[in-house]
Amino acid sequence: MLQCSILELEMVFSWLNLLAKLGFSNITGIDYSPPAIRLSGSVLEKEGLSNIKLKVEDFLNLPTELSGFHVCIDRGTFDAISLNPDNAAEKRKQYVKSLSRVLKVKGFFLITSCNWTKEELLNEFSEGLELFEELPTPKFSFGGRSGSSVAALVFQKTRDFSLDKPS
Ligand SMILES: C[S@@+](CC[C@H](N)C(=O)[O-])C[C@H]1O[C@@H](n2cnc3c(N)ncnc32)[C@H](O)[C@@H]1O
Repeated sequence: MLQCSILELEMVFSWLNLLAKLGFSNITGIDYSPPAIRLSGSVLEKEGLSNIKLKVEDFLNLPTELSGFHVCIDRGTFDAISLNPDNAAEKRKQYVKSLSRVLKVKGFFLITSCNWTKEELLNEFSEGLELFEELPTPKFSFGGRSGSSVAALVFQKTRDFSLDKPS
């Protein structure tokens, strides 16, 4: 059993199913939508994966016991939060604060986004995190320029951040 605590934000069809199959334990998947958590539960049950805890939680307002993770994985939740019509800028700041709370120093944050470019993500997550690796994603060319419709980055937490600043 691989000892590593992992938090994933909304984890249907995700990396966590793979990590669980590889033998990682202490995996927690959260979403603030009860139907999303129920769907995740039925996918995991079908795949016979019992070592993942599922919780209905708002990442922007987490209970204190959800902290100290080695890895935090996001595929699409920061995007969804960023598109919230109700004060998205403030919610993005709250996301960064929550990330700092849940992740251990030296822990890894994996984010996949189809809404933000690599440069924009580097700017959003510049405080207390450093780019560890850019994961390969499909590329396309148009009008003589090439680009990518998805950004997938791995950051490492270097220190606590956004904990002492007023919001
Ligand atoms: C674009 S979907 C991503 C689904 C999944 N990760 C995937 O790759 O298929 C975004 C998910 O984030 C969840 N979400 C949005 N804001 C959230 C928040 N503040 N806390 C927890 N989950 C949130 C939504 O309920 C939705 O299930």
